[in-house]
Amino acid sequence: MCGIVGYIGPKEKKEILLDGLQELEYRGYDSAGIAIIEGKKLHNFKAIGKLKNLREKTKNYTSEGFGISIGHTRWATHGKPTELNAHPHLGAYSYVVHNGIIENYQELKEELQAEGVNFLSQTDTETIVHLFEKYHNRSNDAFPAFKETIERLEGAYGILLITEAAPDMIFFAKNGSPMLIGFDNEDVYFASSDTPLIGKAKEVYYLEDGEYGYVKDGQVHLFNKNEEIGFTKQTLTADKALAQKDGYRFFMEKEIYEQSRVMGETMMGRVLDDGIALDELDKDFFEDINAIKICACGTSYHSALTSAYLFERIAKIRCDIEIASEFRYKEPLLTGDTLFITISQSGETADTLEALKMAKRAGLKSLSICNVDNSSIVRESDAAILTRAGIEKGVASTKAFATQTMVLWMLALYVGQERNSISSDILRQEIDAMLHTPKALIVTDKLHAKLHRLSKRYLHGHGFFFIGRDIFFPLALEGALKLKEISYLHAEGYPAGEMKHGPIALADSELFTIALMPKTMHYDKIKSNVEELSARDATICAISPEPFDLADDFVQTQYSSHPMVEFFEMMVVTQLLALEISIRLGNDVDMPRNLAKSVTVE
Ligand code: M6R
Repeated sequence: MCGIVGYIGPKEKKEILLDGLQELEYRGYDSAGIAIIEGKKLHNFKAIGKLKNLREKTKNYTSEGFGISIGHTRWATHGKPTELNAHPHLGAYSYVVHNGIIENYQELKEELQAEGVNFLSQTDTETIVHLFEKYHNRSNDAFPAFKETIERLEGAYGILLITEAAPDMIFFAKNGSPMLIGFDNEDVYFASSDTPLIGKAKEVYYLEDGEYGYVKDGQVHLFNKNEEIGFTKQTLTADKALAQKDGYRFFMEKEIYEQSRVMGETMMGRVLDDGIALDELDKDFFEDINAIKICACGTSYHSALTSAYLFERIAKIRCDIEIASEFRYKEPLLTGDTLFITISQSGETADTLEALKMAKRAGLKSLSICNVDNSSIVRESDAAILTRAGIEKGVASTKAFATQTMVLWMLALYVGQERNSISSDILRQEIDAMLHTPKALIVTDKLHAKLHRLSKRYLHGHGFFFIGRDIFFPLALEGALKLKEISYLHAEGYPAGEMKHGPIALADSELFTIALMPKTMHYDKIKSNVEELSARDATICAISPEPFDLADDFVQTQYSSHPMVEFFEMMVVTQLLALEISIRLGNDVDMPRNLAKSVTVE
């Protein structure tokens, strides 16, 4: 979703901004822009579409000498993706970039319009720059004007503002949207996540909600409420282990192939011969905990759904799962003996973060399962278990889902172990199955070629049903989500036993059923569900170790002794199927239309 970068100092600014925005590109955007002030010279460039359009527009421009600069990638919320709506937004002599949503912008806009201000865009952001200039025109003092502006804003924001009135200062504010400051001697950088700063800044400070301030002469002046406050920098890794495609056509493809390796990293030091060790959790972490509630969105929600079966079956602890955006407004009943778990790849998903804050306000203990250290969700939680998947760039999440599910499986065993609800024999069997997972995730040439061949038969039709039972139902949901995200074909995930309660009415030869038919779990039950669909002429693609006569297409998986191993192998099949269909349809696999990698607005 939207990304912010900023820089104040003597270095060439255009490349710093464009490189920074490039690092945020994978998060999804539909327009981009930069603004630079060097003394009395203002430069502003905007372009819709990809960053290469902005590069093209700026190719004859190079900044010179000391200056202040801000850049932004925008994912449209208020108003279409047009140049006028792209950030930075200009007042008479100032520019602003903003992530988040200003909830009272309509009221502020009306107030400013009544005073004669002319708005060029349909965005909520433009109100910020006009409000600033209104206060500045009165006081002729930039920082008090900025402070007064911030005090009027309601909602979520990460803001950078530069003005010709103070050409040696950058103003910043954070509330609900991530923002950090990077330091390299006198050079000061800003970004909405740490990746644009790696290789540039040596140290960083992650702003907290409610903090704002300005930079001048290489010094950061940080405020909270009316007080100037101190802050402690932390070292930023210098290892620019940037995700490159390494010969794969798409990041998503690379990330599917990486799953076998990263799963080893997820388990390292945690899966021992005779038990699970989670050093992230205090010994008494589960004391007084009698239930688990998990909140997440999208793919992370699907890993949560999978884990509910594991927590109740293995650890014998009650586990409820909620979509974060629903949880926030349902006035949930929360009891103090419930552990509140959030799951998030990015750690910045607005709904999940707000759900976590709600649970904390209700006094619940919190744990996050996340791929990004230092993200807002990790920092907000009492404890965090990192998934160690490495940077995931494809908008369609793959290795994040695999590693989240693995961490949750480990956690279920850990809870069972700590509460003595699992026998040592079962624990050893589960661990043995875990150790087989990396092998189940290997993508062989044969498998990939098979999915490539099959994909050509699934480019039309009036929809897909992914069906499964038990843990294979959330996997069906996830398979359907992957397909619809990158192919734009309609797909639904369904519990196989539920088809006859309505959806089977859609069955005909143009209805494609992707049937997850593990041999270790309810095989006969799902077989008869698939037979019912076949009898109504639905086209069946069966994924199973067991050959199935009625299948129109068949992808054979390995026989295994554990459902989770079958789960992970089938997950790879559904990911490759979505990938190959999307490629055949000529879609942008890594940056599908309308989607953002990190959804930082409600
Ligand atoms: O970063 P998060 O895991 O919190 O993101 C949640 C969803 O936005 C995300 O899983 C989304 O559904 C993906 N595009 C799925 O591929």
